[in-house]
Amino acid sequence: MQLVHYRHALLSPKKEDADFLLKQKKDLNDFRPGRVYEALRAILDSKLNKAGMVGAVYVKTDQGVLFEIKPHVRIPRTCKRFCGVILELLGHKCIRDKDTNEILMRVIEEPVTRHLPINSRVVGLSYSSEKLVDIDEYVNSGSDELNLVFVVGAMVHGKISKEYTDDFVSVSNYPLSAQYCIGLICESLEHKWKIF
Ligand SMILES: C[S@@+](CC[C@H](N)C(=O)[O-])C[C@H]1O[C@@H](n2cnc3c(N)ncnc32)[C@H](O)[C@@H]1O
Repeated sequence: MQLVHYRHALLSPKKEDADFLLKQKKDLNDFRPGRVYEALRAILDSKLNKAGMVGAVYVKTDQGVLFEIKPHVRIPRTCKRFCGVILELLGHKCIRDKDTNEILMRVIEEPVTRHLPINSRVVGLSYSSEKLVDIDEYVNSGSDELNLVFVVGAMVHGKISKEYTDDFVSVSNYPLSAQYCIGLICESLEHKWKIF
């Protein structure tokens, strides 16, 4: 399984930047990294990931920067430190393991589909979709030959683009957080593959 995770601007503005953004009539909700941080932790800390069943994680910013995060990466334990790592990533285009030199995060070229394995099925999640599914039944009905790729939005406003998706589904009658949706996906797959 791969998870694509979309987010507006990534970095938390400092007080003076926030004042500047407000003067520019920008919405500070578009500059809240906590959402993407929580969503990433929901993926990376899941039993699914610990069992090695998450193939890759991609994040796309509102400015169109796409980056890949290796699923075995140890994400910083605070959002502030996470922001520091992302700043370094955007500056250097990649983050390497200091001991092994392995690339842990890297900026990659669009479109994301060119990085996905053959046999991928891209499933966009949106409260606005008219196709309401039971996520447990949905993941159970898919063949294990298929690589499931879920697209979840971490923005406050707007919704994920249908572009590149093979299916576009709602998983609840209620609007949920990205973190909660990712938890549902991970749990369904953990049940399916009996990961305890
Ligand atoms: C806080 S919402 C983003 C809000 C945005 N206004 C929207 O409706 O997509 C975070 C993300 O969680 C997912 N999501 C939220 N509720 C959902 C639902 N009922 N079914 C499927 N996905 C949902 C969507 O991917 C959404 O982009």
